[in-house]
Amino acid sequence: MGGAKSTTTVDMSNTYLQWAKNNLALNTHSGEHTFIQADCLEWLANQASQADSQHYDLIFLDPPTFSNSKRMDDVFDIQIDHVQLIKNAVSLLKTGGILYFSTNFRRFKMDYEALSGYDVEDMTAKTIPEDFSRNPKIHYCWKIKYDASN
Ligand SMILES: C[S@@+](CC[C@H](N)C(=O)[O-])C[C@H]1O[C@@H](n2cnc3c(N)ncnc32)[C@H](O)[C@@H]1O
Repeated sequence: MGGAKSTTTVDMSNTYLQWAKNNLALNTHSGEHTFIQADCLEWLANQASQADSQHYDLIFLDPPTFSNSKRMDDVFDIQIDHVQLIKNAVSLLKTGGILYFSTNFRRFKMDYEALSGYDVEDMTAKTIPEDFSRNPKIHYCWKIKYDASN
């Protein structure tokens, strides 16, 4: 049995934060769980710019493809914004920590060049359920670390 795990969930929607709370309550009995209602882009940029921000062993980043919510200052477009989003998230990892980044945008192209200092492993084939093996474009997933050797 592992020790108590602490988690932080960031989502712009209170409805989905409540779902996350309910799911965690059903699955977890220990650890400290924080729920933050915020625009993830803004929150990540803010955390990444602070010297004393919390760092994480594991981050799951599953952003929407596109958003122009009234709660946001700018329009979010995964194809344009993924590099900055990934860099900000990786800067919040502890040494040896891992970021999993996923998207359902079928025409998504990972900007490997802009992320050349990072260890970016395509996990898509391993994360497609067998039922979807003939339709592998249902989602894409990468495992990302900062590669200090680059
Ligand atoms: C998990 S994403 C869906 C991503 C899906 N895999 C895709 O590629 O389209 C949906 C969640 O993102 C949340 N969300 C949308 N825009 C957001 C933002 N700017 N900041 C934080 N959460 C956001 C929504 O409230 C919802 O809970």
